[in-house]
Amino acid sequence: MYRPVLVTGAAGFIGFHTCARLLADGRKVVGVDNLNDYYDPGLKMARREQLERQTGFSFVKADIADRAAMETLWESHGPFREVIHLAAQAGVRYSLQDPYAYIHSNCLGHLTILEMCRHTPGFRHLVYASSSSVYGGNTQTPYAVNDRVDTPISLYAATKRADELMSHSYSHLFGISQTGLRFFTVYGPWGRPDMSPYIFASAIAEGRKLPVFNHGDMKRDFTYIDDIVSGTVAALGTPPDSAKDGVPHRVLNLGNNKSVQLLDFIAEFEKAFGKKAEIELLEMQPGDVRETCADIEETTQTIGYRPTTPIGMGVPLYVTWFREYYRDKKQ
Ligand SMILES: NC(=O)c1ccc[n+]([C@@H]2O[C@H](COP(=O)([O-])OP(=O)(O)OC[C@H]3O[C@@H](n4cnc5c(N)ncnc54)[C@H](O)[C@@H]3O)[C@@H](O)[C@H]2O)c1
Repeated sequence: MYRPVLVTGAAGFIGFHTCARLLADGRKVVGVDNLNDYYDPGLKMARREQLERQTGFSFVKADIADRAAMETLWESHGPFREVIHLAAQAGVRYSLQDPYAYIHSNCLGHLTILEMCRHTPGFRHLVYASSSSVYGGNTQTPYAVNDRVDTPISLYAATKRADELMSHSYSHLFGISQTGLRFFTVYGPWGRPDMSPYIFASAIAEGRKLPVFNHGDMKRDFTYIDDIVSGTVAALGTPPDSAKDGVPHRVLNLGNNKSVQLLDFIAEFEKAFGKKAEIELLEMQPGDVRETCADIEETTQTIGYRPTTPIGMGVPLYVTWFREYYRDKKQ
């Protein structure tokens, strides 16, 4: 009999979709999130409400960096032998503005989750979110998990790399099975309003100028949310085996393995809206990288991950959701 899976950051973009998939698969899910106001908490509440309509889901509002709150959560709803840990202070640019938020949620929060897992008898698997940003200023693409990742160019990236190192030490010391997933620019319905798909869609919808950094010379390995969720759930079901792998910790790329020019990505939005964008070419932003592309061969071999959604399919799905959600908001 399966016990509930704990999903941290359950009211977030990826957490919401991950919970929905686990529930659809017949799993019981406990979601935790502090519903902070880094971006519109109304969107987080709307995601939470969608999940609460489904049987098998419970939500707890708490801060993952709060030890007492996590102990209470484990006692009241756990113990959790499987955890998908997605709660974090996300966003590269905001890490120049409020660095403490990153240390609090991404370092102290990550440690608190590690400690809870360490003290759970029969613990099975912790899957946690890392990021393609750990590749920093690396210029050789596609990025492979064995590439050097010791030159982060934002504090956000530094905290995500710190998470990987903390996790490795906990797997080494306490034998906890863990998988870190380096997500590559995730997009799709219910996406974050601080990310480029929302910025592009809202600018086109409202006829505003659409800012494009580094004069459009940017490439991203845009990865559709359903592919990310498939990879995350597949990873959960395939914990690293310490007898085979030595330390039971591994890091995998979750990307699309197709780096797309930003202007080609925007063209898909123009098609979906049936409307031209008014593009404003701007300088590179501090902390940003020019290109990302994931080498996913090892991910395919290890957990059978195969992304299936090209941008020509994913962008129209995002735009359909965007139009419905924000039209209803205006009414
Ligand atoms: N979306 C992407 O493209 C992307 C790319 C790389 C990595 N990631 C990582 O994936 C994870 C999920 O990202 P997302 O896009 O869903 O972001 P998100 O901001 O939508 O979700 C994160 C959720 O965590 C919650 N949270 C933050 N700090 C918390 C704390 N201290 N206690 C409890 N809850 C807290 C937030 O309220 C939010 O709902 C994050 O770890 C992020 O760093 C995302």
